[in-house]
Amino acid sequence: MAKIIDGKAIAAKVRAEVAEGVRALREQRGIVPGLATILVGNDPGSQVYVRGKHRACKKVGITSFDHRPEPSVTQSELIHLVERLNGDPEVHGVLVQLPLPSHLDAELILDRVRPEKDVDGFHPMNAGRLLTGRAGLRSCTPMGIMRLLSEMKVELEGKRALVIGRSNIVGKPMALLLLEQNATVTIAHSRTRDLPDRVAEADVLVAAVGRPEFVKGEWVKEGAVVIDVGINRCDDGLVGDVAYEAAARRALAITPVPGGVGPMTIATLLSNTLWAARA
Ligand SMILES: NC(=O)c1ccc[n+]([C@@H]2O[C@H](COP(=O)([O-])OP(=O)(O)OC[C@H]3O[C@@H](n4cnc5c(N)ncnc54)[C@H](OP(=O)(O)O)[C@@H]3O)[C@@H](O)[C@H]2O)c1
Repeated sequence: MAKIIDGKAIAAKVRAEVAEGVRALREQRGIVPGLATILVGNDPGSQVYVRGKHRACKKVGITSFDHRPEPSVTQSELIHLVERLNGDPEVHGVLVQLPLPSHLDAELILDRVRPEKDVDGFHPMNAGRLLTGRAGLRSCTPMGIMRLLSEMKVELEGKRALVIGRSNIVGKPMALLLLEQNATVTIAHSRTRDLPDRVAEADVLVAAVGRPEFVKGEWVKEGAVVIDVGINRCDDGLVGDVAYEAAARRALAITPVPGGVGPMTIATLLSNTLWAARA
């Protein structure tokens, strides 16, 4: 059976490092990192996520600011709020919780977040920095996965990595981060042919599809490292994108759902906020 990659434990380690970094920044430079979140509308999932982010900030000594404009907020009012936070010296990270209600243009609003405060790493400037191998704020989920891989001492150089999914939030930045570590990277998506064959070749597999148990255990290469990003709500609770039981019989190491990638995303948001405050 595969080793289980304990995202909860590794996330706790990251949070402890962030707490220490926050303490040092406060003592040495008198700076307290601050994260502002903007939540529009009543999406229950988003409310849970935002609450979790504030709770996590508090535990590591990051000040958090909770902005909840009326659901009827206009595009220009929201941009005005983003601009105000861009200029606020107590705010080092600005996070616009997605999805936004349909009358708002999410792309246009995210583009207004100052790249230096874009702790989600979604701004085209930060995406471009990642693409060109320069320092910048990077998307939290893929960064969290890189930390899982490094904690598990997974050697990436020269290895075949397959990322299933090409979203701007997960799949694409994930592929670039693996490439940066000298893996040979393939990106699969809904038009990919022969997906089981591609999976069978992968030493490292990252599944970010959003379909319950989409990747079958029999597809997985013996001895592969399997990272399951999927969070799918089903009758029997949360299920990943990989058929866990069967995949765990073949893999060397695998992330569970829940308790694998999920906890790393918020932990990385905290470390991005600290990074932004230091910068
Ligand atoms: N753990 C966490 O912290 C975390 C964070 C973010 C997301 N997630 C979860 O990760 C999953 C993916 O998120 P996302 O935002 O990247 O989703 P997304 O934007 O919906 O992207 C899904 C990707 O999967 C691809 N896909 C769909 N059907 C496919 C098929 N039959 N074969 C191969 N590829 C297929 C799509 O291809 P096309 O581009 O061709 O349509 C797309 O690129 C979701 O379950 C989400 O809840 C978890």
